[in-house]
Amino acid sequence: MARMKQRARSGEQRALRVLAIESSCDETGVALIEDGHFIHANVVASQASIHARYGGVVPEVASRHQLEALLPVLETAFAEAGAGWESVDAIAATYGPGLAGSLLVGLTAGKTLALARGLPFIGVNHLEAHIYANWLQTGERDQAAPEFPLLALVVSGAHSELVYIAEHGHYELLGQTRDDAAGEAFDKVARLLGLGYPGGPAIQQAAAERDRSRSNPYTLPRAWLLGTWDFSFSGLKTATGNLLAKARARGEEIAIPDMADAFQDAVVDALATKTVRAAVERGVREVLLAGGVAANLALRARLRADLGAHGIALRYPPVAYCTDNAAMIGAAAYFHLRRGERHGYDLEPRPNLQLPFASAQG
Ligand code: KG4
Ligand code: ZN
Repeated sequence: MARMKQRARSGEQRALRVLAIESSCDETGVALIEDGHFIHANVVASQASIHARYGGVVPEVASRHQLEALLPVLETAFAEAGAGWESVDAIAATYGPGLAGSLLVGLTAGKTLALARGLPFIGVNHLEAHIYANWLQTGERDQAAPEFPLLALVVSGAHSELVYIAEHGHYELLGQTRDDAAGEAFDKVARLLGLGYPGGPAIQQAAAERDRSRSNPYTLPRAWLLGTWDFSFSGLKTATGNLLAKARARGEEIAIPDMADAFQDAVVDALATKTVRAAVERGVREVLLAGGVAANLALRARLRADLGAHGIALRYPPVAYCTDNAAMIGAAAYFHLRRGERHGYDLEPRPNLQLPFASAQG
């Protein structure tokens, strides 16, 4: 077996290496993460091509494939790290939110391995992990860790949340979607436009093919929900469907790149406008983008420009760490483990788990 990558360490604290498992939806991930940011291995098996033919994730199919993929992915992760069990100090697995059957596979594996190996175990909140993907060291050189207080825009297939983070583990929910999540809107509209699954990358690619030398003939509405930090995307999906139906009824040729771009622009406008305002109002110096939709290039570019105009930095993980992966689970687990937190073997999947928001009373 290859020797494990050696990491230069400063300070006296002993390294903490976490074997992390992610299985909340249709990706099976195993990673070995040191001190919440150094990636020894990160392996992801995606079922996207299997679910593409259904236009979305089929839960029963997803959990069955989780079961098939987990052990091979675990072995591949050990091989990639060039390490064995002697290099693992703790085990972490996602316990929610997500699909119950899929969560059960990774969580049961994590608890069983911890019991068999006599290692500490911790369950990880998948949404918190998306945020902590921003702590992962993914470049050549050591990057400085994000500094609190922070604002995070968490946009995935099931969530769209604007969160103020005062300190590790201290979350305040500023706003969230009232209906569809941003990623869900991308997926549904991609299906309407015949662009396949997952919808986000497909729409982004179609929009990029638009001829930008002329203006877009389509415009789509934004639901501003004034006076709140909330979002709403289901009206936008309906408006896109109506526009498409009208164009078809008139026998017009539908310019898919134009329509994809008009849709993407409306989503990005709503997300970016509120994020920038909240960042300015809360006086943060850095904004974190998290979740699958954080992979969107138009959203990144717009936020970088608009936040930059206020002297606020934007941070986002590389694309592979925006969508579901286990490295982010290992990153989030670290901060809990260092605080001495552990979960028992009775921890069960929590499909509807939220971020642990402080109540209004504090
Ligand atoms: O975080 P994630 O991998 O899984 C969940 O936890 O939900 O997010 C998946 C979502 C899907 O809705 C997918 O269409 C969207 O992220 N997504 C994107 C892009 N890449 C993935 N949305 C917009 N642009 C992208 N480039
Ligand atoms: Zn996710």
